Amino acid sequence: MIPVADRIARLMPAHSDAAARLHRESLGEAWSASDWARYGADERVVALGAFAEDGSLAGVLLIRVVADEAELLTIAVAATWRRRGIGEGLLAAGLAEAARRGATSVHLEVAADNAPALRLYRRTGFCRSGRRAGYYSRPAGRIDAVLMTWTGARPGDRDLTDPVSIRIKKH
Ligand SMILES: CC(C)(COP(=O)(O)OP(=O)(O)OC[C@H]1O[C@@H](n2cnc3c(N)ncnc32)[C@H](O)[C@@H]1OP(=O)(O)O)[C@@H](O)C(=O)NCCC(=O)NCCS
Repeated sequence: MIPVADRIARLMPAHSDAAARLHRESLGEAWSASDWARYGADERVVALGAFAEDGSLAGVLLIRVVADEAELLTIAVAATWRRRGIGEGLLAAGLAEAARRGATSVHLEVAADNAPALRLYRRTGFCRSGRRAGYYSRPAGRIDAVLMTWTGARPGDRDLTDPVSIRIKKH
């Protein structure tokens, strides 16, 4: 039976190595395990993981909340777990927790060539709020950053009040 990542829970210090590995493999970002441990221990940061039945980590999310504003620091789903609703589940859970802590807007920036992430954010209710020209560098040149903002669930959006119950699609 294929294990299904059906649990979204707080990232604990014990998950820092796995989070750093997953993040590096997904985004090439060189955040160390101690960076992840620091985010996990920061009480302003919503740090969530999506876990498979065997306890392995399938996805991670960090949102920093400061007063009524929040910032999506990162989201990544392991390549073998993509396109099953885990990213959407993590984001919904993270937004619900940020809103519960008082955030009325959540901001993010995403590379203009990252089509999967752009679609995920649009689908979750983020709207474009700006653009930074040439913000990211790629081997082939520079890429703009798209700035996006979420200001709360829209009518018809998924009920975010019980994020843990969000169902992950089985393949
Ligand atoms: C972006 C990312 C987190 C999405 O995670 P995921 O678990 O695969 O996303 P979901 O399965 O929840 O997808 C939800 C929706 O997002 C969109 N989406 C996700 N992956 C997509 C893809 N490869 N192509 C087009 N749309 C995609 C779709 O609208 C999808 O809904 P659908 O499957 O019903 O069509 C994942 O691709 C990832 O980790 N990418 C590398 C890291 C990254 O780029 N992070 C964002 C940095 S800003």
